[in-house]
Amino acid sequence: MEIQNIKIYPHPALREKNTDFSPEEIKSEITKSTVKKMVDLMYKADGVGLAAPQVGLNKMLTVVDAHDGTGVRIFFNIKIINQSYRQETSEEGCLSLPGVSGLVKRPRLITISYLDENGKSNILKCSPILSRILQHEIDHLNGILFIDKTRKITAGQEYLKQWQKGAKPLLPHVSYPYSYL
Ligand code: CO
Repeated sequence: MEIQNIKIYPHPALREKNTDFSPEEIKSEITKSTVKKMVDLMYKADGVGLAAPQVGLNKMLTVVDAHDGTGVRIFFNIKIINQSYRQETSEEGCLSLPGVSGLVKRPRLITISYLDENGKSNILKCSPILSRILQHEIDHLNGILFIDKTRKITAGQEYLKQWQKGAKPLLPHVSYPYSYL
């Protein structure tokens, strides 16, 4: 599948089931090229994370740069294995819902399991910022968007209304390649 742009809500790929990678598949040239294209799109969009369904690929893959000095991180087959009792509310946006923001309450800290780019299994206790980003991305991998969980939309209600009516407006404020198809 050719990865060219970021899919805009309500693209059906954002709601589909996503399948795991085998370790062999992770090491394949096609997957390396997919990861590279997703990372390029994330940086072009000035985003902190991008999940494969957002580029029309229904697979368990997300790329993240939390701007914490670590650089880009790649996660295959990610799962939450522990989460803090303490929750925090924070404002979120999404590259598939450009211009829309909302307040979302989530556990402050998570621990995840995932496969890295060599197909090796890892466990990671995430920082608060990485925990926030990854919970948003893991939601994508389960077909969930932040607008499903928000208790208050803080910006972009007008876009949301148009999309929900089935309109596909041009988005002049979007500086990255995007598509409704
Ligand atoms: Co998102």
